[in-house]
Amino acid sequence: MELDDAILNRTSVRYFEEKNVPEEHVRALVEAAVRAPTASGLENWKFVVFMSENVRERLYNLIAEGMIRYYRAVNLPDEKIEKLKKRMYESGMYRAPVYVAVFIDRRVRFLPGEEFDEPEFIWSIESAAMAIQNLMLKAVELGLGTVYIGVTNFPGIEEEVRELAGLDGNHYLVGVIPVGYPKGEVKPRKRRKTLDEVLVFI
Ligand SMILES: Cc1cc2nc3c(=O)[nH]c(=O)nc-3n(C[C@H](O)[C@H](O)[C@H](O)COP(=O)(O)O)c2cc1C
Repeated sequence: MELDDAILNRTSVRYFEEKNVPEEHVRALVEAAVRAPTASGLENWKFVVFMSENVRERLYNLIAEGMIRYYRAVNLPDEKIEKLKKRMYESGMYRAPVYVAVFIDRRVRFLPGEEFDEPEFIWSIESAAMAIQNLMLKAVELGLGTVYIGVTNFPGIEEEVRELAGLDGNHYLVGVIPVGYPKGEVKPRKRRKTLDEVLVFI
């Protein structure tokens, strides 16, 4: 697949077929992910794949909880939240055969000293986010859909995802990526802003 095709066809997919993803495809996604740039060459990322039914169900519930918290945070009226909640659970939104949770290990450091704590933390997150983008583009090539879930970072939920992944408090969750074969048509979303609004040459 041409790079442009992968970039232009990637879009957030939130509904998936009930069809298993071969393990070799999951491996291929993570192989693409770890080719991303990584600040200071740290490679302090960890990709935890949730494939068994029990853990997937628990993670799904945490995603749903996070989405409801998000709807509240953006001040949606209670009735609307109830409708969205019902739709989410009934339609199987965010239910995927595979979830990849991406973490960083905060202990792995290149720069000693507290003054560098924050920049290194941010670099680690940025590196993991670049890895996630590689994973998402590779998924397009394999006919798979993905969506970045950020709501699992809300306090209380992040810790539960970490525990589910069997990782200790040195790890920080960057994002959860549901992966599966898209259900229905995949139509890339248009951008609201034109290139001229966001592009500046100096
Ligand atoms: C850091 C980050 C966090 C996101 N968190 C969520 C999320 O929690 N739930 C969700 O449905 N989509 C989430 N998204 C997906 C965005 O809503 C989506 O990328 C955006 O609407 C643009 O649509 P597109 O990806 O189809 O181009 C997230 C995206 C990013 C980059």
